[in-house]
Amino acid sequence: MTQGTLLKQITDYANRADPYPLYAELRRTPVSRQDDGVYAVSTYWEILSLLHDPRISSDTRNRLPGMGGTLLADSEEEDTGLPPSFIRLDPPEHDRLRRLAMRPFGPPHTPRRIHDLRGELDRMVTGLIDGLRDRREVDLVDDFAYPFPVMVICRLLGVPHEDEARFHVWAEQIVAGIDPSSSEDPAQRQEAAQRARTELGRYLAGLAEEHRRTPGDDLLSAMVTEQDPRERLTPIEMITTAVLLFIAGHETTVNLITNGMLTLLRNPETLARLRKEPELAVPLVEELLRFEPPVQFLPQRTALTDIDLAGTVIPKGAPIWLVLASGNRDPRRFEDPDRFDPERVDNQHFGFGSGVHYCFGAPLARLEAQIALTQLARRLGDPGLAEDPPPYRRNPVLRGPRHLRIAFDGVVG
Ligand code: HEM
Repeated sequence: MTQGTLLKQITDYANRADPYPLYAELRRTPVSRQDDGVYAVSTYWEILSLLHDPRISSDTRNRLPGMGGTLLADSEEEDTGLPPSFIRLDPPEHDRLRRLAMRPFGPPHTPRRIHDLRGELDRMVTGLIDGLRDRREVDLVDDFAYPFPVMVICRLLGVPHEDEARFHVWAEQIVAGIDPSSSEDPAQRQEAAQRARTELGRYLAGLAEEHRRTPGDDLLSAMVTEQDPRERLTPIEMITTAVLLFIAGHETTVNLITNGMLTLLRNPETLARLRKEPELAVPLVEELLRFEPPVQFLPQRTALTDIDLAGTVIPKGAPIWLVLASGNRDPRRFEDPDRFDPERVDNQHFGFGSGVHYCFGAPLARLEAQIALTQLARRLGDPGLAEDPPPYRRNPVLRGPRHLRIAFDGVVG
């Protein structure tokens, strides 16, 4: 097998259940040019250095024609008519938008936002698990891991409960639109995704107007009632940001919870420990983010100038893929990297990226996964996988099971 075709194999659906041996192969050349022109960066220190290097851009408009990179469809923001959200922008514009979006979400202005949600998240999880009382088998994705983050983000943004179902449909269509490997007609998928995005944008604009008149305890209300004009997002920036928050925290959190249960069921001694020691959830979730990261790689970076790294020159304008999941298993960084060890102490993983684009929602995602896994461990009686490996989603970037069938012996408590 040649280095130049490894990314193609990694994105091939046939390898979705276990891409890790291919990552090990990829790491033999830390920076490798793939046959389609993409530069794959697969080792920990090289990924880290690029994530902190201002010579690479997150804005794909900096790609030069003829440099290749056809393995994945371009970013979801591309043909929507909306300007790119800050995940696809570079400093200083990125920093301005991120700072304004962060004002109502976290420190320094709103340090307690996520902390104060704990009780509510706990009640949401309790309610979802209570709903499984009559069941002996569950699809963890459809019955739990998917609805939970949708409820949470709707609550945060201030979307009324009765509109959640519409949100769900839009999100599915948008995510399907960016799935590079779906078997459905790409033009039709793109069209449906764009329609969903427009409708979601229009809906959010209406909701923002309602919140301006009657503000609540939510992000949109805080954004539209910001008094200082220098600290306020424009209406279009607010919509783009709300759509980003909604999408970014969606399939990622679903996959963290689902990969989490899958890994726990494959490691029953850890599951048993979590049942008795709920505080294990904190290091456990960190190890999951290293071991089975929901974002496997970042395929949107571009070199702004020639970059010499690990003996290879990445030319200006070339597409770069930072293979986070491979860096997370790099034996030069992590001891015994293929071992799932919830007590790992030295665990600076790339699950949430690193550098200026470090995940905005990390504190929320961590809390959601900790609460979900602790309650699932405690309340599902004698659970076991009905199928292993489970069927995976087609998407190689946001990797996770599409279904996770778990057989169990009733709900406890
Ligand atoms: C387990 C769940 C999650 C994972 C694994 C995850 C992972 C990531 C990663 C790897 C990045 C870096 C992207 C890059 O460098 O290009 C990122 C950025 C981001 N995430 Fe998350 N994320 C999760 C949940 C969330 C949630 C719940 C939210 C929103 C509430 C969120 C909002 C964002 C935003 C806005 C960015 C862009 C930050 C920036 O460009 O400055 N994420 N996430």
